[in-house]
Order: sequence, then structure tokens, then C-alpha cells
Amino acid sequence: MRILVLGGTVFFGRAVARQALAAGHDVTCAARGTSGDPVEGARFVTVDRSDPDGLRAVEGTFDAVVDVARKPSHVRHAAAALTGRVGHFTFVSSCSVYADTATPDQTVATAPLLPAAEPGFDDAAASAEAYGRCKVTCEELVRDAFADVFVNRAGLIVGPEDPTGRFDYWVARHARGGEILAPGDPAERVQFVDVRDLADWTVRAAEEGLTGTFDGIGAPMTRREFHAGFGGDGTLTWVTQDFLTAHDVVPWSGPRSLPLWLPLPEYAGFLTHDTTPALAAGLRPRPLPETAADTLAAFSDTHHITGLTDEEEVALLREWHAQ
Ligand SMILES: NC(=O)c1ccc[n+]([C@@H]2O[C@H](COP(=O)([O-])OP(=O)(O)OC[C@H]3O[C@@H](n4cnc5c(N)ncnc54)[C@H](OP(=O)(O)O)[C@@H]3O)[C@@H](O)[C@H]2O)c1
Repeated sequence: MRILVLGGTVFFGRAVARQALAAGHDVTCAARGTSGDPVEGARFVTVDRSDPDGLRAVEGTFDAVVDVARKPSHVRHAAAALTGRVGHFTFVSSCSVYADTATPDQTVATAPLLPAAEPGFDDAAASAEAYGRCKVTCEELVRDAFADVFVNRAGLIVGPEDPTGRFDYWVARHARGGEILAPGDPAERVQFVDVRDLADWTVRAAEEGLTGTFDGIGAPMTRREFHAGFGGDGTLTWVTQDFLTAHDVVPWSGPRSLPLWLPLPEYAGFLTHDTTPALAAGLRPRPLPETAADTLAAFSDTHHITGLTDEEEVALLREWHAQ
């Protein structure tokens, strides 16, 4: 198949291109080239999707397209440029399209969505809600423009080359061992998908002509299972949400954060989506120890890790034990 990746210079787009090449497909990636490089073996076309005519440089027909856009304008320009000369269309959306982050175990068919972005609104980076609303708009635009559409609403994507450093915090922390500050309660649940499994499913979806809307995410697991999945000889000290909040620890990502930790009950539904439809449609999540080991092996000197510094973790544990 001739596959066009709109993106392909970073993390998931690169994983899709790599997977498609491994499956024997002819792969073209189209992006500015500012986020990184395409994988070896893929054809690269330099485009700027903020220019309405930017995709003119992408010539010919394609059996399948994979688009990771966040901005509605980028999807509008793609629809204008590609309608009539592409086949299957995967739009990589996000579980951030959902309006209700609090209710656990929601399923794709019934979970309520955020409203679409206001007409002309394009600033997906403005906030988590703006991102979700822009993705809702992108989904609508793709469904209107193309016939065979697979909307893959990714949850937290983890694994090698993740530029966010969120999962990597836990990989690095468990590799170091010692006393590990584990947030929340061991019975709380978290959820993620290995970038390679999502890419594998995306390529097979194109090959098989899968259409419809799915949550691209692995089954939820408890925090206890999550930490056990990293192996190592560290010991866990479970620290409550109340303590972490009172000590200005930031949820999810960034400086002084604990990645994959989110306040409850507000986010009890964010990492507990029903993955049954995706599994039935072909998603094959690998075991966590494999994702953890491969992510550790892929670390480089310039690798970005978000989360607590060693000093912050030690100080927090000292205060926790002192109280
Ligand atoms: N990471 C997660 O945990 C997570 C969770 C849920 C959903 N998602 C979704 O999963 C997808 C991840 O995709 P990704 O890892 O490939 O990363 P991404 O951060 O979405 O990358 C955006 C891609 O689009 C290209 N791009 C951006 N602006 C452009 C422009 N003006 N013209 C042309 N190309 C442009 C970038 O390349 P250049 O900068 O080189 O142009 C890059 O290749 C996204 O759709 C994201 O919303 C991610």
C-alpha cells in the first residue's frame, strides 16, 4: 500500500511510519521537519499545514492516510488537498475529547463529548479543554471529508521516543531503586498504550479497512500492578493525595510533578476507559515489563524526564515519615 503519514517526525508518527515500512508498505511522511526526522526508508515531503496550499507538494494518490493533527485548520487544508485521491483515513484523536473525566469505565459508544471548538478557533495548545474541543472538530471535519474513516482516540501513549518524559519518569525511577514515592492508593487504576502497539493497530486498520471510532488504549490496571510491572528492587512508599496536594506536588507532568497521578474524584474516569471495543477490533497491547524495558533501553543523554527531582522526592518522603 501507499501510505501517507501527515506528521511522522516525532514519537507516534515515526512509530507508524516504522511499522508501515516493516509491513512492506511504501511510506511518505509530510511535515515541516522541525520536530525531528522521519524514519529511514520513508519518503519525506516538507510541508507547512498552516498554509492552505501547503499540502500541494504532496503529489499522487494514497491507499491510506494517518493524520495526527491537533488544529482544525490543518484538517480543513488536508480535506481540501486530499479528497478524491486517498483511500482509508485514520485520524489520531484523543480521549481528551470526552466531557466527563470523573466517571470510571466509560465506553466509546456512550461517553459524552466536549462541544466542538468555536468556528475559527485553532489554538489547541491553549488548554486541555481547548485541545479536546479542537480534536472533536478535527474528527467531524475528517468524517465529513473522507469515506473510510477510522478515528483512533488515543489514551496516554508511552514507550520509546516519548517526548513528554511522563512514563519515562517511572522507568528511570524504578531503574534507580531505593525508596520510591508512589502516589495515591494502590487500588486506584491507570491506563496507557505502548506507542508501537497503537502504531501496529493503526497500520493493520489501514490494511483491513477498519472504520469507526475507538478508544486506542490498553486495559486499566491498578497502581500496584503498574509499579510491579517495572521490576527492580525498589520499595514503594504510598503517599496520599491529600499529602501530595498540601505539599504542592503537581499532577500529571512538569516540574515537581508525579506523572500518571491525577486528582480524584475529578479524574477517576480519565485513565479507566473501557478498552473492550478496541481489543475486539484488533488492538494488541504488550505486557508492561516489555514496554518498560524497551523504554529504558532507548534512553539517550538528551532524554527528557519530567517529575520530581531526587532531592524533592527525598524531602517529601522525609516529611511523610515525620508526620
Ligand atoms: N502523547 C500522548 O500521550 C497522546 C495522548 C492522546 C492522543 N495523542 C495524539 O496522538 C498523536 C501523537 O502524534 P505524534 O507523536 O506524531 O506527535 P504530535 O505532537 O502530534 O506531532 C505533530 C506532527 O505534526 C507535524 N506538524 C505540526 N505542525 C505542522 C505544520 N504546521 N505543518 C506540517 N506538519 C506539522 C509535526 O512535525 P513538524 O513539527 O516537523 O512539522 C509532527 O510530526 C497526536 O494526534 C496527539 O494529539 C497523544
